Amino acid sequence: MCLDFFTVRTLHVIKSLNNQNRKNKDLHIQRTSHLVETIGHGAEAKVFVTTFLERDAVIKVRPEKGYRHPELDKRLRVSRTKNEARVIREARRAGVRTPIIYDIDLKECSITMERIHGPSVKYVLDSDPKNADAVCENIGRMIAKLHTAGISHGDLTTSNMIQLDSGELCLIDLSMGNSSAELEDLGVDIHLLKRAFMSAHSGIEGSFEKLLSSYRKEMKNADRVFSKVEEIRNRGRYT
Ligand SMILES: Nc1ncnc2c1ncn2[C@@H]1O[C@H](COP(=O)(O)OP(=O)(O)O)[C@@H](O)[C@H]1O
Ligand SMILES: [Mg+2]
Repeated sequence: MCLDFFTVRTLHVIKSLNNQNRKNKDLHIQRTSHLVETIGHGAEAKVFVTTFLERDAVIKVRPEKGYRHPELDKRLRVSRTKNEARVIREARRAGVRTPIIYDIDLKECSITMERIHGPSVKYVLDSDPKNADAVCENIGRMIAKLHTAGISHGDLTTSNMIQLDSGELCLIDLSMGNSSAELEDLGVDIHLLKRAFMSAHSGIEGSFEKLLSSYRKEMKNADRVFSKVEEIRNRGRYT
């Protein structure tokens, strides 16, 4: 594995954090973490495979951004970490499958959570387009459940959904989510999902209609959300 400077630094920080945790007898949550693999490397966060009390886990670390003022940077990283953990929990409470949170570290701005096994929905749709309608119906149902609970995701794409063996979908990457979402947030979710879907999944655009119709079936105020989506689309068109 080729490690860049940043990865080596992060591994260092996490290892010392784990050593600290191990020394702390009061801490029941003992992290027996050995970082094996980096599985995600976005603009804001890095995701590593790890273990937590012998369970498969991932740790999502939000590293410092040198280009931001240090105080602002810390504030942003802490609030996004807290927000992600809160929205993941609330979505779970609303019956949407999300990873179980094992540990949050606001010093490091990291969340240790259940590792979800399975392919991304993006991969599923690309590799098996024949089943796209059924998968899209599942997506619509899941989003309706989330939105019915007044929660928006903030970055809805098929890469942020994992399909479990059972066929159930698990939602990840909720750091931009809002658990007291306004109609506007719900509209933005659908608008962005549609845009992402149309660009990532050419050839199965028609399946998006299935997604919308299953959303409409499960979501009480679906028509209000759809009007909002239309408004957002027009706004984008003329500005
Ligand atoms: N709980 C999890 N279980 C399994 N894989 C995960 C989990 N969380 C994140 N990942 C993997 O890491 C990638 C990046 O994580 P994500 O939360 O989407 O952050 P980003 O903001 O970088 O997109 C995901 O696309 C997925 O492959
Ligand atoms: Mg993501």
